[in-house]
Amino acid sequence: MNKEKFEKEFKERQQEAEKILTGYLPNREGLQKTIFDAMEYSLMAGGKRIRPILMREAYRLFGGEDMKVIEPFMAAIEMVHTYSLVHDDLPAMDNDDYRRGRKTTHVVYGEDMGILAGDALLNYAFETASQCFDHISDPMSAAKAMQIFARKAGVYGMVGGQVVDVERTGQPLDKEVLEFIYTLKTGALLESALMVGAALAGADETALEQMEQIGRSVGMAFQIQDDILDCTSTTEELGKPVHSDEKNEKTTYVTLYGIEQSHQAVERYSHQAVELLEKLPGSNPFLEDLIEYLINRTK
Ligand code: IPE
Ligand code: IPE
Ligand code: MG
Ligand code: MG
Ligand code: MG
Repeated sequence: MNKEKFEKEFKERQQEAEKILTGYLPNREGLQKTIFDAMEYSLMAGGKRIRPILMREAYRLFGGEDMKVIEPFMAAIEMVHTYSLVHDDLPAMDNDDYRRGRKTTHVVYGEDMGILAGDALLNYAFETASQCFDHISDPMSAAKAMQIFARKAGVYGMVGGQVVDVERTGQPLDKEVLEFIYTLKTGALLESALMVGAALAGADETALEQMEQIGRSVGMAFQIQDDILDCTSTTEELGKPVHSDEKNEKTTYVTLYGIEQSHQAVERYSHQAVELLEKLPGSNPFLEDLIEYLINRTK
């Protein structure tokens, strides 16, 4: 696919993901209105929507057609991801004041509401995902998807990675620990996106394991590129503070290997992911192009 066509299709998919997400937002009324405002503030600030897009493309790759089945999970994974960012930015964690081009949720709504907005998004994600059961013809597929979705967000996934990231802050890390952190804190939700999409389309265990491996490689590439951009980009471009890792004395791929080798690692992991994808029975050229595109992403 040529660059222009890809970028147009990517933009269309981002808009579609955004529209779906908007459709699942809670009404902003009731005595607890502040929490609805804070949820919407963080969710609708304009992220790249990579995870719902990956999920939809994985669903398509395995022959999934009914959008009503995948939409609740697409919205749900963006909610979980957004909650992870809201909490990641809190003073007790990375203590960052900008996210997605705006003041962070805790800066605008207070730290108490920042914590609660994260809690709310996480819980509401599961409430939203469960709507899938109202539309799917094979509930066992939805149950499998739910199981993956829960595990990859939790202590064996994103939360587990954040724990080690925070606990080891300020310490030198070896390659194995760093890979553990990246695979969990960032890889797990990307694995989840690909696996949930495949599971909802009825993919078998072998296929799910293959999607997990692809997600793992994409996750490593994605986090290393995030580390690079933290050093080389600008707040305007990224929509979040640069040099946050330096401020927090984080050991990153860049501090261990330098920019050039880190960039090579991003290429290596991304190509690994595409090669694995090409080995699968179906084909999805957009998904391959998206993974390639992420190598040189600038935000
Ligand atoms: C940022 O994720 C946090 C990481 C896992 C590196 P994204 O780069 O996907 O953030 P948004 O959703 O586009 O804001
Ligand atoms: C965090 O990694 C990944 C999450 C699980 C939120 P970072 O702390 O590097 O993410 P950014 O740079 O703040 O987006
Ligand atoms: Mg962090
Ligand atoms: Mg951070
Ligand atoms: Mg970062």
